[in-house]
Amino acid sequence: MRVLFVCLGNICRSPAAEGVFRSVAGDAHHIDSAGTSDWHVGDPPYGPMQAAARARGVDLSPLRARQFTAADFDIFDLVIAMDAENLSNMERLRPPGNATELHLFTDYAPDTGANHVPDPYYTRDFDGALDLIETCATGLAHALKDRA
Ligand code: 4NP
Repeated sequence: MRVLFVCLGNICRSPAAEGVFRSVAGDAHHIDSAGTSDWHVGDPPYGPMQAAARARGVDLSPLRARQFTAADFDIFDLVIAMDAENLSNMERLRPPGNATELHLFTDYAPDTGANHVPDPYYTRDFDGALDLIETCATGLAHALKDRA
């Protein structure tokens, strides 16, 4: 499966989701991330996010931010949004006739009761975000188990 994780800036939540999901799912899938904004294009993940991920054994340092484009709907099999705003901003770019699956990451962690991944760029709770991202990533890996 080709899986794309998307947030607003592509420097906190979605690169963390990309790195954590890669560590959970291994090489079974093609994994990438993007932001709906162009604010941080070319930037590495935010320092405090990198540090919190590194403490859990996840290296985000090679990643660079890029902006989500309509072409991503044709490239990826599954697009995962961190919050409802990301979801609606992408839905507006969907090419006519495209049927690519687009879901909230928290859909894969129903037991948490969460309906979005809170943005640690604002909350400063990088570990809380990573806890939720790990739960969502585990649920997603389970959901994709038989979809190579
Ligand atoms: P992200 O967090 O969407 O999880 O990457 C943000 C990072 C930066 C900004 C907003 C959100 N910003 O306003 O620069």
